[in-house]
Amino acid sequence: MNFPDFRARRMRRSEGLRRMMRENRLSADNLCYPIFVAGGTNVVKPITSMPGQSVWSVDKATDLAARAYDAGIPAVILFGIPDKKDPVGSEAWSANGHVQRAIKAIKKRCPDLVVSADSCFCEYTDHGHCGVLTEGVLDNDASLENLARTVISYARAGADIVAPSGMLDGFVTACRESLDEEGFEQTAIMAYSAKYASAYYGPFRDAVESAPQHGDRRGYQMDPANGREAVREVNMDVAEGADIVMVKPALAYMDIVRMIADEVNLPLAVYNVSGEYAMIEAAAANGWIDRDRIVLETLTGFRRAGADIIITYHALHAAGLLAKR
Ligand code: PBG
Ligand code: ZN
Repeated sequence: MNFPDFRARRMRRSEGLRRMMRENRLSADNLCYPIFVAGGTNVVKPITSMPGQSVWSVDKATDLAARAYDAGIPAVILFGIPDKKDPVGSEAWSANGHVQRAIKAIKKRCPDLVVSADSCFCEYTDHGHCGVLTEGVLDNDASLENLARTVISYARAGADIVAPSGMLDGFVTACRESLDEEGFEQTAIMAYSAKYASAYYGPFRDAVESAPQHGDRRGYQMDPANGREAVREVNMDVAEGADIVMVKPALAYMDIVRMIADEVNLPLAVYNVSGEYAMIEAAAANGWIDRDRIVLETLTGFRRAGADIIITYHALHAAGLLAKR
C-alpha cells in the first residue's frame, strides 16, 4: 500500500498511538550499574574524566549499590582498585580484597540485588596488562590459572555472576570448571565475548590506573575492523558454557550487537563504556545536547539493536528518568 492510501503519520499523531506502535522498551530492568571499589572508609573520589562517577570505599560502594537497588536496577558490576599492584596482580584473588569485601557487604545489605564481579588483572598488575606476562607478552594459559583463583574468591564472597573481561582464550571453560569443582555450580558467567581494542576505554583506565605501561591490548582484544570474528568469539563462549555474552564497546558496534542477537539464544549484554559516557557528559555540560533525552535515546537504541542487558554509567540517572515517565 502506498500514499495516499497509506499514511505513516497516522499512527504517530498522539502519545497513545505512539505507545501502541512502540517496538522496543527500555526499563530499569535492563540496566546494570558499574561501581568502582577501593580501600579506606568513607572515601568518595570523583573521576575527573567521568563526571558524576566516583571511586568508592566499600562502605560507600555499599550505600551506592543500595541506591541502585532502590531505584529499581536489578544488577551491579564491581571493579576493584587494589592498594598495591604487582606483576601477577595477586590482590585480585585476595579473600580480603576490596571487591570481595564489597560483594559480602552488598549481598548482606541487599540480598536481592544481583552482584557481578568484573574478573581481570589489568587493574591489579603493575604493568597494566590483563594477566601474567612471559617475555613481555600476555601468557594466556598461565593467566587462566590466576583467573580461576580470582573467580572462586568472588564466588566464595557471594557474587551471583563473575564476568571475565580479559579476552583470554578459554576463559569461560577455565571459570566454569574451577567454579564447579569448588561447588559453585550456581555462580553464573557473563563473558566479555566480543571485546574490542578500543580508545573508548580511556576514561576507565584513568579511573583505575590500568593503562598498559608498555605496548597495548591489541594482542588479545579484537580488531575494531572485524565483525565475523565477533561471531566466532561469541560462539566459543557459548560452547564453553557462558550464561550471558557481551559486546563491548556499544555505540560504534551496534552492527555487532544485532549480529550477535540474531546468532545466539543467550541473554546479550552491551557495555556502554566510559568514553561513550564521557562524550555525552562533556557535550551536555557545554549545553550542546539535551542530556536526559540523549541518555534515553542512546539506551533505547541498544535495546533496538538487540541488547537485553545494558551495562552503563548512566544507569542511576536513566532509572530516575524512567520512573518519572
Ligand atoms: C579491563 C576492562 C576494561 C573495561 C572494563 N574492564 C577495558 C580495558 O581497559 O581494556 C572498560 C570499561 C569502560 O571503559 O567503561 N579488562
Ligand atoms: Zn583487563
